[in-house]
Amino acid sequence: MNHPARFTVFGHPIAHSRSPRLHALFAAQCGIELEYTATDAPPQRFGEIVRGFFAQGGRGANVTLPDKRLAFELADTHTQAAQRACVANVLTRLSDGTLEAHNTDGAGLLRDLRERHRVELDDRRVLLLGAGGAAQAVAWALLDASVRELILANRTPDRARALADGLGQPARVCISEWTGLDRCAPFDLILNATSAGVLGAAMQLPASLVSNTTAAYDLAYGNAAQPFMGWARAAGAQRVFDGLGMLVETAADSFEHWHGVRPKTYEPHRALRM
Ligand code: ATR
Repeated sequence: MNHPARFTVFGHPIAHSRSPRLHALFAAQCGIELEYTATDAPPQRFGEIVRGFFAQGGRGANVTLPDKRLAFELADTHTQAAQRACVANVLTRLSDGTLEAHNTDGAGLLRDLRERHRVELDDRRVLLLGAGGAAQAVAWALLDASVRELILANRTPDRARALADGLGQPARVCISEWTGLDRCAPFDLILNATSAGVLGAAMQLPASLVSNTTAAYDLAYGNAAQPFMGWARAAGAQRVFDGLGMLVETAADSFEHWHGVRPKTYEPHRALRM
C-alpha cells in the first residue's frame, strides 16, 4: 500500500501553527494526497529531530520560529532566496537524498501587499523595523520590488548597519537610529519585522512617521500584531494590515515548490480569518 507523502512544520512552540490546516485545504483544492503534521522542535534538538523526520521518509517541511536560522545551517544546498535571507522556512529532501533550504517569506510578503492589499511599492519610501532573520528576508524582496528608499531601524543599531551592508545598495538603503525616528518624514509604508509583539514587549514609535496615506503592515498576525497595528491606527494610518495573508502566500509558495502547482489562496485566507 502506498502511503501519502509526508510533510510537517517544525517550530517551538508549534501547537498554534496554522500550517497543517492550510496545507490540508491546499491539498483538497488541488486533489493531492498528503500527510501534514506539526512537530515540536526545540532549538537544542532541532538537528536530531529534522534528520529523523527525513530519514523516515519525510518529503518536505516548513520551519517557523525559532528554528529558521538552524534550518538554513542544517541544509546541504540553498536556493538563491534562502542564501539572500540567511534563514529558511522551507526544507526539501531532493531526489539524491540531500536537504535543500528555501525561503518564501519575501515573495509571500510581496504577493500579499501587492495582490491582496493593493499596496504600491514601486518608487515608494519604506521603513523596515527590525534587523533579524524576518527583516533580512523581506528587505531583499522590497529592493526587488523597486522601492525608492529603504530605511532600516533597529533597537540595536549595529545589526541594522550589518543588514544594510549585506544588502549592498547604499544608494537606496540607509539606516536610522531608533531614537532618531522622530526626525524622519512620514513614510509610504512601515513594516514591523521585530519580534516585540510576539514577545509581548512594548515599542516606542513616534506618530510623526505616519501620514494619512501611510500603509502599516505587521509581519506577525493574531495578538502579536495588535500593538503595532493599534499604534499605526492611533497615529492616523488609513490602511493597517497584519501578516496573516503573508503566511498564506508563503505556505502556497512552499506547496508549489513541493507539488508543482500553486493553490488559490482567497478561500483558505478567508477560512483562517474566521
Ligand atoms: P526573527 O527571526 O523573528 O527576525 P530575531 O533574529 O531574533 O528574530 O530578530 C528579532 C528582531 O526584533 C530584532 O531586530 C530585535 O532587535 P535587536 O536586534 O535589538 O534585538 C527586534 N526586537 C525584539 N524585541 C524588541 C523590542 N522590544 N523593541 C524593538 N525591537 C525588538
